[in-house]
Amino acid sequence: MIVEFKNAGLSYGEGAETLSDLNMTLGEGEFRFLTGPSGAGKTSLLKMIYLAHRPTRGEFSLFGEDAMQAPREALPALRRRIGVVFQEFRLLDHLTAFENVALPMKVAGINQNQYREDVSELLNWVDLGNRMDAKPATLSGGEKQRVALARALVSKPDLILADEPTGNVDPAMSERIMKLFIELNKLGAAVIVATHDLHMVQSLGKPVLRISDGKLSRAAGSGGAA
Ligand SMILES: Nc1ncnc2c1ncn2[C@@H]1O[C@H](COP(=O)(O)OP(=O)(O)O)[C@@H](O)[C@H]1O
Ligand SMILES: [Mg+2]
Repeated sequence: MIVEFKNAGLSYGEGAETLSDLNMTLGEGEFRFLTGPSGAGKTSLLKMIYLAHRPTRGEFSLFGEDAMQAPREALPALRRRIGVVFQEFRLLDHLTAFENVALPMKVAGINQNQYREDVSELLNWVDLGNRMDAKPATLSGGEKQRVALARALVSKPDLILADEPTGNVDPAMSERIMKLFIELNKLGAAVIVATHDLHMVQSLGKPVLRISDGKLSRAAGSGGAA
């Protein structure tokens, strides 16, 4: 199992839990959309899976390891298997689009010959093939988001977490980005995409999880196997 929560809860302080009685599994190669109103806890759930914060109760395992007990030193190795597309992009301003995307591979000590093509291919996919040498300051919000997307995917992560990845882009690009997730899912990555775009969700026929009132449930009528 890639992700498994059992009776987990998350609370940010006193008061009611933001997420409660969370029971969820995500197996290898599975795809889930995550929906729910603004403030429901979608980002909180993705950040928990990314180990940015741990559940305040219950059980949580990631890649088969007990994430509640894992020592701090064990977290980077788990995180390296995850590609995250969060809303804040955090590109490095002094690097070009190409270099930003290549950075995770460079940091991992991989030779440029082994990733140059992948970086170009991903940047072409998100229609930035002609902006590879551009610095972030000269890119629009939507373009920066697409660079961050390519950076999250270049290391071929086992798990992809995307938080409203089509927030800043037009419908045609949204569709392209969703197709990219579906292609990577076909190649074996497990994927969770949080989105408000219910039209997109319906057209793709993938299973949908919905958070409301702190509870996660399987949306009725959503496609795919359980
Ligand atoms: N770091 C935090 N500290 C305290 N409260 C937070 C924090 N992050 C999110 N929250 C609260 O948790 C709830 C869920 O937020 P969030 O996960 O961002 O929802 P969504 O992504 O569905 O819009 C909101 O009420 C939000 O204010
Ligand atoms: Mg959010």
